[in-house]
Amino acid sequence: MNEKNTAQPTRTPPTPNPQWGGRFAAGPAAIMREINASIGFDRALWREDIEASLAHAAMLAAQGIIAKEDEAAIRSGLEAIAHEIEEGRFPFEESLEDIHMNIEARLAERIGEAGKRLHTARSRNDQVATDFRLYVRRAIDGLDLQLRDLMLALATRALEYADAPMPGFTHLQIAQPVTFGHHLLAYVEMFAVDRGRFQDARRRLNECPLGAAALAGTSFPIDREMTARLLGFDRPAANSIDAVSDRDFALEFLAAAAIAAIHLSRLGEEIVLFTSPPFGFLRLSDAFTTGSSIMPQKRNPDAAELVRAKAGRISGGLITLLMVMKGLPLAYSKDMQEDKEPVFDAGRALSLSLAAMAGMVRDMQAVRERMAAVAREGYADATDLADWLVRELGLPFREAHHVTGRLVAMAEAKGVPLAALSLEELRSVEPRIHEGVREVLSLEASLASRRSLGGTAPALVAEAARAWIGRLQG
Ligand code: ARG
Repeated sequence: MNEKNTAQPTRTPPTPNPQWGGRFAAGPAAIMREINASIGFDRALWREDIEASLAHAAMLAAQGIIAKEDEAAIRSGLEAIAHEIEEGRFPFEESLEDIHMNIEARLAERIGEAGKRLHTARSRNDQVATDFRLYVRRAIDGLDLQLRDLMLALATRALEYADAPMPGFTHLQIAQPVTFGHHLLAYVEMFAVDRGRFQDARRRLNECPLGAAALAGTSFPIDREMTARLLGFDRPAANSIDAVSDRDFALEFLAAAAIAAIHLSRLGEEIVLFTSPPFGFLRLSDAFTTGSSIMPQKRNPDAAELVRAKAGRISGGLITLLMVMKGLPLAYSKDMQEDKEPVFDAGRALSLSLAAMAGMVRDMQAVRERMAAVAREGYADATDLADWLVRELGLPFREAHHVTGRLVAMAEAKGVPLAALSLEELRSVEPRIHEGVREVLSLEASLASRRSLGGTAPALVAEAARAWIGRLQG
């Protein structure tokens, strides 16, 4: 990005912009050019700009608005320009403001008069709205594949750890035992909804603004159905004013990205926590760990931390664009040029986060013994005991809760798990307790008993993981 932000007096008087300077005697001040230019970032739209121009030219020719020969020249000119950009040979000019005028000016340079006919019956307003929708649509398709990839990695590891006990937490206090597979599948569900949100946004964005022109439509006999079809849109946008001034599709993209990033940040945080030695639940591979330059023992989960942090900039992008759009009068305002950077940045950050997370998940090792030991230590079977008192002895749950609480206090005072209390000790609190209680005072029994729909019983977890793997691969 351009860092200079002070007005430099220009020695040679600037000449008017060749694309719109007809009524101007002098060109813009250097600082005016700098604040006005978007070419520094909107060059990322070059592919979409050329794609949309090709469709527009084909339509103009089909409607007899330009000659077939002109369309052929425009087509080969734009294809040559695409090669120039791909190969890094394109002469980008800040004085031409943006990607649209850079490409159009270059076209005229290459093919002459025919190139100057391309902008018939369109404006940069419908052009940029079209390009940007195409860009966001492509970004969604890429992120969808990456989300699927991450879900598959999570579901595969979930199947492997379907029966691995871990302490489940609420308030980050040990709550009840769950399996690590179950825990991982919780994230699969979250990312599945993220995919759905992106798909919903995609459905709504898939209307074509091209042909709305500046804001009012055009007097030329254009065929908006044709350009919409050529560009893979479901239909032309119905209202020309809305078509050029709407950026909901970008907001929805950012909202979906922000929510997905929040999910990733929670998983990132858990990786940071669970790989920390006092937890010791997880080990990341060397490929996803960094060392410390001073403390040789350290294995830092930098990628997980950065994924956690990127949720900040991604949700920042959403707020940025919401604030840009707030209170803008219809139709187009130059403010809307500021719509692109937050979307580009959020898309890149989310894509990188998804790739890094998938890599970490594929490689990580769960330390089964450690997770099971902590699940045992933390009285995670207390609820099982209370449930047993209800089921076997007919105690009201509140009373069972109280009895169990006293037994936990007793065990804690002795520094032992509930299962280590003798029958006498158990009966000192509730005389009707019998040996049958032993079968619920084990991690395995506790887990296996959680068979309610969506519960953590290893058999259910394995089934759910297999179902996900099947769906994701199908
Ligand atoms: N660079 C501009 C943008 O990104 C293109 C549209 C300019 N339209 C205009 N009427 N000045 O929004």
